Amino acid sequence: MKGGKEEVNNTKNSKKRKRGSKTTNKEEEKKKKLSTTNVPQTKCTSSSVGKSSKPVSFLDKMKARLSGGHFRMINEKLYTCSGEEALNYFEDDPSLFNMYHVGYQEQMTHWPEQPVNIIIQWLKDHSPSLVVADFGCGDARLSRSVKNKVFSFDLVAHNSSVVACDMANTTLETSSIDVAVFCLSLMGTNFPSYLCEAQRVLKPGGWLLIAEVKSRFDPTNGGADPNNFSKAICELGFYSVSKDFSNKMFILFYYKKKEKLKSKKEIKWPSLKPCLYKRR
Ligand SMILES: C[S@@+](CC[C@H](N)C(=O)[O-])C[C@H]1O[C@@H](n2cnc3c(N)ncnc32)[C@H](O)[C@@H]1O
Repeated sequence: MKGGKEEVNNTKNSKKRKRGSKTTNKEEEKKKKLSTTNVPQTKCTSSSVGKSSKPVSFLDKMKARLSGGHFRMINEKLYTCSGEEALNYFEDDPSLFNMYHVGYQEQMTHWPEQPVNIIIQWLKDHSPSLVVADFGCGDARLSRSVKNKVFSFDLVAHNSSVVACDMANTTLETSSIDVAVFCLSLMGTNFPSYLCEAQRVLKPGGWLLIAEVKSRFDPTNGGADPNNFSKAICELGFYSVSKDFSNKMFILFYYKKKEKLKSKKEIKWPSLKPCLYKRR
């Protein structure tokens, strides 16, 4: 019986072994497939890091998706609250600012041209003696790229050259600035108060440069009428020098502050619709 059992067992074992070897073969085939078609499984292990030339692992994709979601959430918040609320939001958790800017920079890589570069070029084409205020400077690229004296403001100071504040209330002296720049930064629901601040700090004859997302000025799609926006700015005490609609993604407005300001009347500002980024 023993021998018989053993025989049976042996047969079972050999069957098991056969099945086992089949499974092993299948698993090996699967592994091979994964290693050639599905980088994630291999890239997540530390031993395989850097072996594949494909940089995107499953983990990387998940991280990107998560940070993309965070970026869109923070972005929506900034477009739907006041500057003061936004300041408190980032004061509570300054890491959100970094998260926002990583996502923002990623979005910018899909734009054929970045408006900040156009403004940098504009400054390079003018006298370096012009004193500049960059309202909503982000990572302060502008100040790093020109010879001018630049005062940079944002809700969080990316570096020591930036003053952290709500740009509706800067520390600048009245009539002390030659160029005020708003590059994609008219985000808060109280954006007119940022423009009032620019009007206060600009010297008579000083420049106001605004770059904004084109879709915010598309009246056929819920955006503001650019003429109404311009009219409001002129009533604030500026005259329009030029507008540039040639770019697919953004509009540029160039104004100068009037030498003499008329008595203030109530200005009818159009609302600017939020610029919400789609999931890619
Ligand atoms: C879309 S980013 C553009 C950054 C930069 N101007 C550029 O073109 O790369 C807009 C910036 O405006 C800032 N911002 C929005 N509202 C602000 C406020 N009330 N006070 C200061 N900064 C503000 C945001 O924190 C953000 O860094």
